[in-house]
Amino acid sequence: MEEKIIYSAAQPSGNLTIGNYVGAIRNWVRLQSEYRCFFAIADMHAITVKQEPAELRRHTLELAALYLACGLDPSRCVLYVQSQVPQHAELCWVLNTVTYVGEMERMTQFKDKSRRHADNINMGLMDYPVLMAADILLYQTDYVPVGVDQTQHVEIARDIALRFNNRYSETFRLPQALIVKNGAKIMSLQEPEKKMSKSDENPNAFVSLLDDRDTVLRKFRRAVTDSDNRIVSEEGRAGISNLLAIYCAFANCTLQEAEKTFEGRGYGEFKTAVGETVANVLAPVQAEQKRLLADRKYLDGILAEGAETARRAAQRTLSKVYRKVGFYRGE
Ligand code: TYM
Repeated sequence: MEEKIIYSAAQPSGNLTIGNYVGAIRNWVRLQSEYRCFFAIADMHAITVKQEPAELRRHTLELAALYLACGLDPSRCVLYVQSQVPQHAELCWVLNTVTYVGEMERMTQFKDKSRRHADNINMGLMDYPVLMAADILLYQTDYVPVGVDQTQHVEIARDIALRFNNRYSETFRLPQALIVKNGAKIMSLQEPEKKMSKSDENPNAFVSLLDDRDTVLRKFRRAVTDSDNRIVSEEGRAGISNLLAIYCAFANCTLQEAEKTFEGRGYGEFKTAVGETVANVLAPVQAEQKRLLADRKYLDGILAEGAETARRAAQRTLSKVYRKVGFYRGE
């Protein structure tokens, strides 16, 4: 049977949150033993909003260390930095010619970010989904493990692939998003109708994977809930439902089990339990990331090797694409 291919990435635009962890990275770790996996650090996507160059460099290295600390194993997956593989930008250019301005203008994240960064609605921001399609399609990806917020981007990658295949003959495999059942959309602790995001202005809205124990406990204590006092997940009770989802994801239990555990208990006690459960999972990840960051040579070696493997795989698809569109390559 043909080996299935997995591709995913995260942006080094800040410290990852527990949303990124449960919605994406934790699942990558599970998938790496079963499939051929490529996991990137999407620094080219990150610069579509303003980044401080020194910070971007630091976040990139920290994210590489965090990937490893979360359990990604370089002997089982290809781990690399997107900008070190020029084929991403090259394929993006070709895919731009089979993508319509109108469909990019309609993308939810573009509309959202245009509102939030009204002074910087640059072409890169609009082209973001096409670059993401290039990421995915370069590796002939079958599955893209992402959180719910990225499903629209995976669907457009599929549309672009299909359109290219129809115009130039079969070239790309059609990718499919892989969404986890529990935790695919962790919400903000302050505005639980909104997704938890690492770029939120209010640091109390998210829990970073690098927050220390006291900070984690404090953020959960301050999480917005309601005036009801039953700890059950229900329509219209976004705050408590989100805390339960986080608890289940970190305690590895079902909703029914969690609701039973906290039956008759108060919000204060519940919030402390959620905080402690999360902090206990984060502690060893943080210690391992710190250890890895002290060994810069090792990290650089992993990334160099990953980029080399990725370039080789990506070039196979890119050469095919260049041939199909009619780029002259000599006799
Ligand atoms: P990014 O960096 O915003 O997020 C990385 C991953 O985390 C998921 N995620 C969440 N899951 C659950 N709850 C949340 N609150 C939450 N917030 C984020 C995201 O869905 C994502 O899976 N465009 C991508 C990066 C990217 C990419 C790709 C992904 C670039 N190229 C190719 C897949 C394939 C992004 O900004 O992710």
